[in-house]
Amino acid sequence: MGENDLLISAAKRARENAHAPYSNFRVGAALRATSGRIFGGCNVENATYGLTICAERVAIFKAISEGERGFDAISVVTDTDALTPPCGACRQLIWEFCGDVPVILANLKGKIEVTQMKELFPKPFDSTHL
Ligand code: THU
Repeated sequence: MGENDLLISAAKRARENAHAPYSNFRVGAALRATSGRIFGGCNVENATYGLTICAERVAIFKAISEGERGFDAISVVTDTDALTPPCGACRQLIWEFCGDVPVILANLKGKIEVTQMKELFPKPFDSTHL
């Protein structure tokens, strides 16, 4: 199994834990650290809606809180024909911690598209502007 397939499998597994009773839109993400460890995340919704956190940010915060700093790639999996790119807030966070990494989008039917953060987030605000 290739590295992208491993990451997609981890995102699919994480998606199974999604807490999405309000949208019923279940998302899984997986982040590969340069250490080789893979961190999964799912979306976690809340009755107040606004406190919902996306799968990508859960994966990032899990990894950061475990001491990881460098990352190679992130994957996002949903059960939709149109693949799901990270939302704007997640793009900001992915840029901060991962930079211009490949973003591997996939669905449960085996459709896969690999894009790059630079393509999804061409003019980021980041620490170079401070
Ligand atoms: N969501 C994610 O987890 N990641 C994305 O990339 C898009 C949106 C979640 C947030 C919310 O729980 C549900 O999907 C609908 O927006």
